[in-house]
Amino acid sequence: MEGAARAPGPALARDFPNGITGFVVTNEVPDAFGVHKLTLTADGHAFAALVVPRVESALVDVLGDSLARRITAADATVRATFGFREHPDDRYLDAETFAVVMPALFALPVERRDALLASALWFEEVYVPAAKIPELAAHLAVNAADYATALAAEDSGVVLYLNTHADRFMRELGAALRAGAIVTIDYGESAWGLVQCARRGDFPFRVYGEWQDYVPRPNDPYSAPGTQDMTADVNFTALANAGREAGLELLHFGPERDVTGADLRALLAEALHDNATAEFLGNPLFKVLVLGKRCASPLAGPWLTPLPLASREQDVPKSRRPLVARLRDTLAGKVADR
Ligand SMILES: C[S@@+](CC[C@H](N)C(=O)[O-])C[C@H]1O[C@@H](n2cnc3c(N)ncnc32)[C@H](O)[C@@H]1O
Repeated sequence: MEGAARAPGPALARDFPNGITGFVVTNEVPDAFGVHKLTLTADGHAFAALVVPRVESALVDVLGDSLARRITAADATVRATFGFREHPDDRYLDAETFAVVMPALFALPVERRDALLASALWFEEVYVPAAKIPELAAHLAVNAADYATALAAEDSGVVLYLNTHADRFMRELGAALRAGAIVTIDYGESAWGLVQCARRGDFPFRVYGEWQDYVPRPNDPYSAPGTQDMTADVNFTALANAGREAGLELLHFGPERDVTGADLRALLAEALHDNATAEFLGNPLFKVLVLGKRCASPLAGPWLTPLPLASREQDVPKSRRPLVARLRDTLAGKVADR
C-alpha cells in the first residue's frame, strides 16, 4: 500500500494496526527526501539557508492579472521581512506563491517555459540561526555530540545538508516496530565522515537533470527548477540517533557488501573476473545500517566490516579535544546565538 515515507506513521498504523514484527528493508529511499542547507561555523554556530525565489516582470506578465496581484502582495511581505531593496523591478515570492507560480509556469508551452525558467526566475539564499527552525533545532540537539566532535577535529566551518525527514522516517518506523530489524541501504556517511568530506570539498548534495543520464551536475539546485532530481548523502549517525529515540538499538553499520553475509567469500572470488561484482563489493559510498528491537543482527559472520557510527574524541587532535564540550553546547542551543 502506498504511503509517505517522510512521515510513515499514518500509513504504518493503517497497514499494521498491531505494529510490525519482522524486517523493514529500504534501498536508496532517505537520500531522496529533501534537505536543509546549513553552515556550521568553526565555533559551533549553525545558520540555515532560506531560499527566496525572485521573478522578473517578463515572467509575471505571462501569468495573468490575479496571480500578478498575488505576486505583488507577496513581494511586499518578503521585502519587509528581510529588508530587501535590490531589484526593484523584480518580485520576491513566499513559499505559498511559489507553489502556485511553478504549476502556472509549467502549463506554458515548453520552449516558453524553459526560456523563462532560464532567464526570469532567480533564487537567493538568506541565512538565519538554525535554532529558529524547530525541526533543525531538534536535529542539532539530538546529534550535537557527534557534530561537535567532528567539527572540533579542525579549525574550520563546514556546509552540511541536513535531512530532518530521514529523522522522522526512522523515528516513526521505529515506533511501529514491535520486534525485528530495520535495514536501511543507501549512500552516505557517519556524521564524522560527512563533516570531514565537506572539508575535503566532496559533493554530498547532487542534482540530476534530464540533460545527462546520471551524471551529477555540481550541486546547482537553482539552474533548472522543477526539472531536476536532487539527492543528498544520508547521515547514518543521525538515523541511528533518531532510531534510538524510538527504542531501536544499533545492530550493524558497514559497507553495503555486508548484506551478503557468509556469501561474501564466494563473491570475492567471483569479483576477480566480474567487474559488476567487483564494483558492488568495492563501492565506498553505499552503506547498510541495521537497527533493531528485541532482535539479533540479521547480518553475522567473520566477513563483515563494521564501521564506526558515533564520532570519537580519540580521533580529534589532543590539543583540540577541550573544544568539544563548548561546541556541543552551542550546537544544542545551550549557548546564545550570534
Ligand atoms: C532511488 S529510488 C529507489 C527505488 C527502489 N528502492 C530501488 O532500490 O530501486 C527512490 C524511491 O524512493 C521513493 N520515494 C522518495 N521519496 C518518497 C516519499 N516521500 N514517500 C514515498 N516514497 C518516496 C521514490 O518514489 C523512488 O521510488
